Amino acid sequence: MGRSPYLAPDFYGKALAEGRHRAIVGGRWDETGRAQMAALIEVGRLAPHHHLLDIGAGALRLGCKAVTYLQPGHYWGTDASRELMLAGHAAELADPARLDPAQLIADDAFAFPGVPEVITHTIAFAVFPHLPHDCLGLALANLARFPRLEVFLFTVFLAPEAQAGAPFRQPDGVVTHPDRPPRHVLERDVLAAAAGWDLTKHDRMLPRGQVLFEARRAGG
Ligand SMILES: C[S@@+](CC[C@H](N)C(=O)[O-])C[C@H]1O[C@@H](n2cnc3c(N)ncnc32)[C@H](O)[C@@H]1O
Repeated sequence: MGRSPYLAPDFYGKALAEGRHRAIVGGRWDETGRAQMAALIEVGRLAPHHHLLDIGAGALRLGCKAVTYLQPGHYWGTDASRELMLAGHAAELADPARLDPAQLIADDAFAFPGVPEVITHTIAFAVFPHLPHDCLGLALANLARFPRLEVFLFTVFLAPEAQAGAPFRQPDGVVTHPDRPPRHVLERDVLAAAAGWDLTKHDRMLPRGQVLFEARRAGG
């Protein structure tokens, strides 16, 4: 099975040393950050007083906008690479004093260590297409410990059942794969991973043709 480029030896160190923190998360910097803010506000009904957890926050492509929008201290990020988030903190924040670097937490297991219970909103944008499909279920299970969580937004690539066994060209042109990143999944596998959650699929145009899902606790 193909492995994520994020697991290649010294992937982060080399790219960061070359100043390529934007490229590590896929570029299209402003457009992709804006798309995430719009989804959070329009679908997630995010307001400045809410508390946001950005899972797989990368170089703060969303964070540089969310930190300005939210009240100071209301943004947390987790990522497999804390150095990547710190590079974003150093280079991308309009006012770095609005985000304590302690709120950028290394986590490659969707365990959210040290993230407080105040979280109301969470997003994982362009994270699961790079990882094995069981990571989605793991993230959903571990988010159960946040009592005030209203909504979890996440993206995946989908492929129709009949074509999912082979490389598949997404609406934006990117080719996804059943067995290696960027990975596509079946819609029914997303639904199966989210048992206990009310899931809504949104038909918004997102960069690279990803599909946005909104998860809210069932009965919540
Ligand atoms: C395509 S980037 C998207 C980053 C960010 N969400 C954004 O939209 O800018 C994917 C991110 O997932 C992170 N990542 C890879 N494996 C991870 C894991 N097991 N747990 C958490 N983050 C991971 C990478 O370091 C990278 O920052």
